[in-house]
Amino acid sequence: MLPDIRQIIMRSGPCVDALPLLDFYLSALESPVLKWPLILLRLKFTPDILEKIRASGLPAQEKGRLFSRAMTLFRSGGAYKTTAVNRSPLTDRAVMEKVRPGDLLLETGVSDGISAANLLAGAKDAEIILSDRQSCFRYRDRGFARFFYNNENGALAVKLPGFYLCAGIPAGPIPEDAGVIRILNPLLEERFKAAELIAFDIFSGSLPRKANIIKCANVLSNIGFSVPRMRDAIANLGNNLAEGGWLFIAQNNAKYRDGEAFFALRKTNGTLVLELEVNGHELLPHLSSRQFAGLVSAAPGKADGPPAQPDL
Ligand SMILES: C[S@@+](CC[C@H](N)C(=O)[O-])C[C@H]1O[C@@H](n2cnc3c(N)ncnc32)[C@H](O)[C@@H]1O
Repeated sequence: MLPDIRQIIMRSGPCVDALPLLDFYLSALESPVLKWPLILLRLKFTPDILEKIRASGLPAQEKGRLFSRAMTLFRSGGAYKTTAVNRSPLTDRAVMEKVRPGDLLLETGVSDGISAANLLAGAKDAEIILSDRQSCFRYRDRGFARFFYNNENGALAVKLPGFYLCAGIPAGPIPEDAGVIRILNPLLEERFKAAELIAFDIFSGSLPRKANIIKCANVLSNIGFSVPRMRDAIANLGNNLAEGGWLFIAQNNAKYRDGEAFFALRKTNGTLVLELEVNGHELLPHLSSRQFAGLVSAAPGKADGPPAQPDL
C-alpha cells in the first residue's frame, strides 16, 4: 500500500514539546488572529508532552486541565481525543440515578478519563472502569530518533530533533519492549487512587464480567461512523451489559438544547429497549430504522410517540 502523502504532510511538522510553547499554542488557537498562522505552521506535539505535564510542578488542578487540553491535540483515527471535565452533566446525572452499590460501571472512549470525574466522585459504592481504544502511547528510541507506534493514527511516526515525521506507513505490531506513556489524567490519579484506564474497543471489547451501566459519550456520531458501524458498536456494548443494565449514549454539541443529548437503552430479556431520551440525540432516528431491527426496540407503549423525557 502506498503511503498517503496528504496524511504525511498534514501530520508532520516542527516539534519541540516544551510546556511554555504548549501554553502559548493552546491560547493562540483561541485567538482569531493567531489561530490560522499557527495552523499553517503545522507545529506538532508528541505524547512526550504528556509526560512533561505529568512531571511538572504545576498545581494538581492546573496540571489536570493542561493534560486534557493537550490530549485534544491527539487523534484517534479520524477524530480527536477531545475531552473536558464535567462535559456531559445531564448524562452523568441520569447515570447516577441508575447506579446501585456493587454495580460495575464502564465508561468507554474516555480519552484521558477526565470526562468520568463526576462518576468517580459520585458513584463511590460502584466499581468503575475507564476505557478507551488505547490505554497508553507506546514508543521506542533508536539513537536520537523516537518512534511512536501510534496505531490510532494509523501510521508510524518518528520524532527527530525539532521535527515530527508521520511516516505514513502502518505502525505494525508494537515491540514488546516499547516504552509506555500513560494517558490517564494525573488529576484523576491523584484524586482517585483506584482509577485505572484499560484498553477496550467498543466494537470488539469483552469485559471479564458484564457491566450494569455503560456510558459512551462523544464517541459515536454521524460524522465519525456509518450506521452499520454504529449498530456493531451498540450490539457489542449490549453484549457487555448485564440483564437489566443500562447503556447511555451521549453527545455534546451546540446544536442541542443545553449543549448535550443522550439516550439510554435498557437490556430487557436480551434486547435493548429505548427507555430514556433527552434533547434528540442525532442517532435516535437510526434506532427505529431497519438496520437496528432485532437489536433495539421501543419501550412498550412508546412505539408511536416520542420517548418520555426523564425528570432531570
Ligand atoms: C472525542 S473523545 C471523547 C472523550 C470523552 N468520552 C468525552 O466525552 O470527553 C472520543 C474518544 O473515543 C475514543 N474511541 C474512538 N474509537 C473508539 C473505539 N473503537 N473504541 C473505544 N474508544 C474509541 C477515542 O480514542 C477518544 O478518546
